[in-house]
Amino acid sequence: MTDLIYLKDSYRKTLKTKILKAERKGDVLLVVPKDCIFYPQGGGQPSDTGRIKGKSSEARVLHARMSGGNVVLECSLTGTLNAGDAVECTVNWDRRFRNMRRHTAGHVIHEAVMSVTAGLTPLRADHGDNPFIEYAGSITRDKTDPIEVKANEIVARDLPVTAEFVSFDQLSEKAAFIPPHLPNNKPLRIVTIEGYRPVPDGGTQVSSTGEVGPIRITGIENRDDKVRVEYAINEESKTDTTQEEGGISAQEIISLLLEVQSSAFSLIDSHERSADDLRIRLLGSKSPLTGLTRKIRSIPKSDASRVGIVANEVKKSIEQKLSGYIRPELLNREAAASPDLPDSDTDRGYFDPTEPGSSPPVGHLHIVSQAITEITDIFARIGFSRVRHPEVDWDWYAFESLNMPLSHPARDEWETFFIEYPGTRPPEKGKFTRIVLTPHTSNGQVREMEKGELPIRMINIAKCYRRQSDVSHTPMFHQFEGLYVDRGVSIAHLKGVIMYFARSFYGSDREIRLRPFHFQFTEPSFEIDVSCGICHGKGVPPGGSVCRLCKSGWLELGGAGMVHPNVLKAAGIDPKIYNGFAFGWGVERTYMMKSGTKIDDLRILYGNDIRFLEQF
Ligand code: DAH
Repeated sequence: MTDLIYLKDSYRKTLKTKILKAERKGDVLLVVPKDCIFYPQGGGQPSDTGRIKGKSSEARVLHARMSGGNVVLECSLTGTLNAGDAVECTVNWDRRFRNMRRHTAGHVIHEAVMSVTAGLTPLRADHGDNPFIEYAGSITRDKTDPIEVKANEIVARDLPVTAEFVSFDQLSEKAAFIPPHLPNNKPLRIVTIEGYRPVPDGGTQVSSTGEVGPIRITGIENRDDKVRVEYAINEESKTDTTQEEGGISAQEIISLLLEVQSSAFSLIDSHERSADDLRIRLLGSKSPLTGLTRKIRSIPKSDASRVGIVANEVKKSIEQKLSGYIRPELLNREAAASPDLPDSDTDRGYFDPTEPGSSPPVGHLHIVSQAITEITDIFARIGFSRVRHPEVDWDWYAFESLNMPLSHPARDEWETFFIEYPGTRPPEKGKFTRIVLTPHTSNGQVREMEKGELPIRMINIAKCYRRQSDVSHTPMFHQFEGLYVDRGVSIAHLKGVIMYFARSFYGSDREIRLRPFHFQFTEPSFEIDVSCGICHGKGVPPGGSVCRLCKSGWLELGGAGMVHPNVLKAAGIDPKIYNGFAFGWGVERTYMMKSGTKIDDLRILYGNDIRFLEQF
């Protein structure tokens, strides 16, 4: 595995190392170095370029990418380089330093955005030629100046920027957010601007914010429910991108173009990648071909047209070869496995009608549907059948039959939506007077008992509604309600069933505990806790301080208790003969506790953002 020196020391410009692997693919040499100072493209930061010098030959590094745990350098070459050769690597420092400054500028702007706005979730970033950061949410244009001012203030304070390698647990404990695609082929690292929360990052950064120089916010673009904050840094003074290879000649560009062409052909012929992936790699804005085409601007005008013709021919030939490319998708996800935010795909700005169709994306059930299926199956195994009861129901089933008459103060907790009675008004008095959107699934209890079949073993899973919408509440959510009514039911039965559920759902090492509580419809009533899966009920995870997930060793599942005699009576069941237990818990909450997922804003569950949902 390549040792990623650029991650440990972003200022390293030269390095002596050994070649682990060298393989010719057409005219391009693929080199895997033992230690690497070239940054491989990813996380929105473009690849480094540079040179590798062997004893008798020198290779130009055109592009670096990650493959498995190795860095692969795509090189043009005069002479030979072989596995085992000692080499000296030199990174194109102007280009790298510019990329580092752009990248750190992105982090500075992120902090500025966070301090000036609220409710945004970072999605991705691009630190290439048109850098931006993208968030889920929106920002009004009047925030442009405050963001710019705040960003430049962070720059002016010249705050140290430090990096630290971390385990996944440490990362989730310390980082301000966890991006959707953490790399599985690179070490995990967090980067901190002094005074701000660490951010997961695998790129190269300058060592203090002052090195970024003045930042301009060049645009705030809101589209659908996303917003891009576009920015620029001062680049003229530090580096001229067109001159970065230092006076390249027309002949050199032509020979590099031909190398690019034949390596593109052999990559296509290797049939290792999907058509989409090939297009981005070979023709996209970050491809070696586009890079070389840009360099034409830096050569004398008299040569430029000649080189331009070759560049066009090369492009056309690659396009033509690709248009006949028929290959079932074999997606290579390495390039997407980026350390912070995924690459931009804006370079796919063309349309080829001859391109073979790609297979439609395969979806899966929403997490809540998955949870419902799993919960239903677990209870089915011990004879609890899933039942359905109305989600728009009489107040009587939702409250009154549950020992909560109209004026009872306990009702306040349920923040209920009342809805108007359709048509003629209902009678003022009697059972069926008011209609509610069920604020809990407990309305199913008396309804199930009214069916008149005993014993009852039901699991009622349904939507519930409450007048609450904030980071920890959605106005619509789900509950599952268990009810067991029979002769001689005891708390021991309740404990046994809950223990069975907790261990089936969360894992066989889990414990439960009952805390005394109060509900109108159960006596005695309890709150049920499950031992935390991270610290195992201790409140302190292995090697850590206070457990970040539970803080106390236990996670709260929800309410339960022995069915109140008044509830049985309301359904016409004689409480002297029969009794029972019940419990009712939130599906979303129960499921989140399982994965240990901490969602900053629960409303995202129902925001229908595929990028969030496909992670589960
Ligand atoms: N319905 C209660 C709520 O929404 C939860 C609950 C507590 C249900 C105790 C029960 C129970 O069946 O026994 O908060």
